[in-house]
Amino acid sequence: MAEISKIDAIQILDSRGMPTISARVTLGSSALAYSMVPSGASTGSREAIELRDKQRAFNGKSVLKAVDNINSIISKALIGRDIFNQHEIDSIMQKLDGTSNKANLGANAILAISLCTIKAAAIEQKVELFQYLNSLYKLRFGDALKMSLPIPMMNIINGGEHANNNIDIQEFMIMPIGAASFSEGVMWCSEIYQALKLQLSQLGLSTAVGDEGGFAPNLRSNKEALELIEKSVAVAGYKFGEEIALSLDCAASEFFKDGKYLLKGDNLSLTSHEFADYLNDLYQGYPIVSIEDGMDENDREGWKFLTHLMGSKCNLVGDDLFVTNVKELQKGIDDNIANSILVKINQIGTISETLDTIALANQNKFSAIMSHRSGETEDSSIADLAVGLGVGQIKTGAPCRSDRNSKYNRLLWIEHDFPEIKYAKFNLD
Ligand code: PGA
Ligand code: ZN
Repeated sequence: MAEISKIDAIQILDSRGMPTISARVTLGSSALAYSMVPSGASTGSREAIELRDKQRAFNGKSVLKAVDNINSIISKALIGRDIFNQHEIDSIMQKLDGTSNKANLGANAILAISLCTIKAAAIEQKVELFQYLNSLYKLRFGDALKMSLPIPMMNIINGGEHANNNIDIQEFMIMPIGAASFSEGVMWCSEIYQALKLQLSQLGLSTAVGDEGGFAPNLRSNKEALELIEKSVAVAGYKFGEEIALSLDCAASEFFKDGKYLLKGDNLSLTSHEFADYLNDLYQGYPIVSIEDGMDENDREGWKFLTHLMGSKCNLVGDDLFVTNVKELQKGIDDNIANSILVKINQIGTISETLDTIALANQNKFSAIMSHRSGETEDSSIADLAVGLGVGQIKTGAPCRSDRNSKYNRLLWIEHDFPEIKYAKFNLD
């Protein structure tokens, strides 16, 4: 038992310059930890509620009410509680909030504390955060997860809501599946990223970057983005398909209008079946191993068709579809749609519920990918979540911008200090 003695929070800025929350939890032993909360742009409609003030300050985006909820309501309820009882801490906050989507206190307020308490607990126990998370999972579900260094999914071309260009697919990611180690994978991706930059500038295209650090040039089509990546992989000297695989995040809800998938770049308006065929065509032409949100979050028929068409050969990842919510994931499992889940801690708002979702994914042989948000901070906890829960894949942007690299850099230290933790192998099961 170690008691929480103080909780406080302030408003800080995220990577887009938007307000977000940073919290601090202090223990009786005077050990303390800080957390910072990320924020999405292409959010799923069923995500837990991010409380914003909607007043004049920061164009309505300030989070002072959520900060106040921490400093008054949450703090009062948690002081004196045992830092090692994460489930109790999270349940108390859920009860205090009283809604199913955390609309009262704000998922941003609740997550700030949930994240901070696991960090403080790890410090108090004198273990690494990933080790603490690994033991938390074991305590809760009885299973010892095998820890691994995740394969990075590096988003090197940004489109959709994350960039001011005409590319419809939101993310084009490279995955160093053939690297012998995490650090080697990071090096490969960085070299490919630099090769892409050179190519773009030779073509007279913009090398300005989008929200997740990837380039955001104006291209004619999604295929052109894939061609540029293929060339960059070759220029950097790696084998496309064998050493470097691709993954896409369509974020299809963002371009699904009146029952059609509208691809501005390609000048196409497609039905669900046609869009699934479009994705399957991309798959035939390129070594794509993972497609996220290939269909709109409410187009369940489209999801069924896509899963039927591609589910046996490609990871089909639900992000807006599942919003890290155990109930939404269960519905997907029941309906036989998708085969993989993106995990974003602020979509659900507590670490305990995040673990519940990962446990359900594990029980049903869904792979899980730990993920950042497009609005990030220097908080690198998701790196520890990826290692401690052994998910095997992490999506945290391009090898560029410190809000993205803080996660990769944390993983490099873990690799250095814990050589017994091996780089994950990619498999489609
Ligand atoms: P978001 O984008 O953080 O803006 O929601 C990331 C994603 O869609 O995976
Ligand atoms: Zn997504």
